[in-house]
Amino acid sequence: MLKSNIKAESLHIARGAYVGRRQDRVEPRYWTLERLQAAGINIQKWDGRCVVLSLLLQIQVPQNQRSSRFVIADKHGRIIALFAGPPDGAKDWDQVTERATVAMENARKQCMFKHEQEVHSRGLYPTVGVGSLFGGGSLRPGAIANSKHNAKALAVLCRNPDILRIAGFGSSMLASYAPRVHLKMKRRLLLLYNRHPSLRLNFPNSIYPAAHFNFGPNSVCFEHTDFANDPINWCHVTALGRFDSTKGGHIILLDLRIAVEFPAGGSAFIPSTIARHANVPIQEGEVRLSFTQFCPGGLLRWVDAGFQTLKSWEQSDPAAKARFNEQLDDRTRASVLYFSRWDELLDDLQEASKPEAAFPELPDL
Ligand SMILES: [Fe+2]
Repeated sequence: MLKSNIKAESLHIARGAYVGRRQDRVEPRYWTLERLQAAGINIQKWDGRCVVLSLLLQIQVPQNQRSSRFVIADKHGRIIALFAGPPDGAKDWDQVTERATVAMENARKQCMFKHEQEVHSRGLYPTVGVGSLFGGGSLRPGAIANSKHNAKALAVLCRNPDILRIAGFGSSMLASYAPRVHLKMKRRLLLLYNRHPSLRLNFPNSIYPAAHFNFGPNSVCFEHTDFANDPINWCHVTALGRFDSTKGGHIILLDLRIAVEFPAGGSAFIPSTIARHANVPIQEGEVRLSFTQFCPGGLLRWVDAGFQTLKSWEQSDPAAKARFNEQLDDRTRASVLYFSRWDELLDDLQEASKPEAAFPELPDL
């Protein structure tokens, strides 16, 4: 476990905790290793295979006791991020990573991208979303829009067995290390899909309602937050491609002042809605792609508002809407309790597995 000095509640949670606070626009400038060093941000070494914290502590840990995972906890011991290497026993993960990379490279050749999909505030690489979304002035949740042509290539990609394994692994890591978050999302999404059967899951083995394919060859992010997503949740990011992860591709969590080496095949689970993040550029001639899964916050708000926009709720039942408004500050304050504490994780997992799971400090669960 890496301990951060930050408190989760100090991150950029918007009032009501349905989305993140929008950040001021920053100059699109890469966070190079030199810039990190100048800013005094520590780099955590990680080869995606074993956690080398033991090296820092000068302790020899037997091979069979080494873990490929580590968490970052906040000042109160709440798990706010997770880094995970291959699934337990997955000896073929390098092949899975390479085949998923090739599948995305093939899909990239088939897709046609609009300018704004290739040049955007997050970076300079083609990116395409799949799944469900609600926001941007729409009147109800719907599928992320893609051209017919691209949708065909993306559908093939979503059925790719290696992408499926990565997606399923991401979902299971969320359930294992953030069981309260997983339960909150599961309960609301079940209601959502029952109400709107036309909404489709991207992957039968993943709870995440939306995903992005960052096609590369230079999927390296400028500093940003993904402010439209569920703030107390993790974005699952799996790095793909062929690059030297000791020289580039690191994921930087700027509010936490931590950077982590992030090799292809590794998966990061970060509160990307509320924590500013970026990547270190890769070297000339290298290739980096990434696959991400996330939960748009508007979907959960739509469910809590009784399957309507806040505006129509105001008109249809102003008293209920007023009560909702009055609770927004309490909701914001309580929101970080969805992140499990490291010392309570096993208890949380046990509770979350019960059919009528309940956490007294989370009345909204
Ligand atoms: Fe992001």
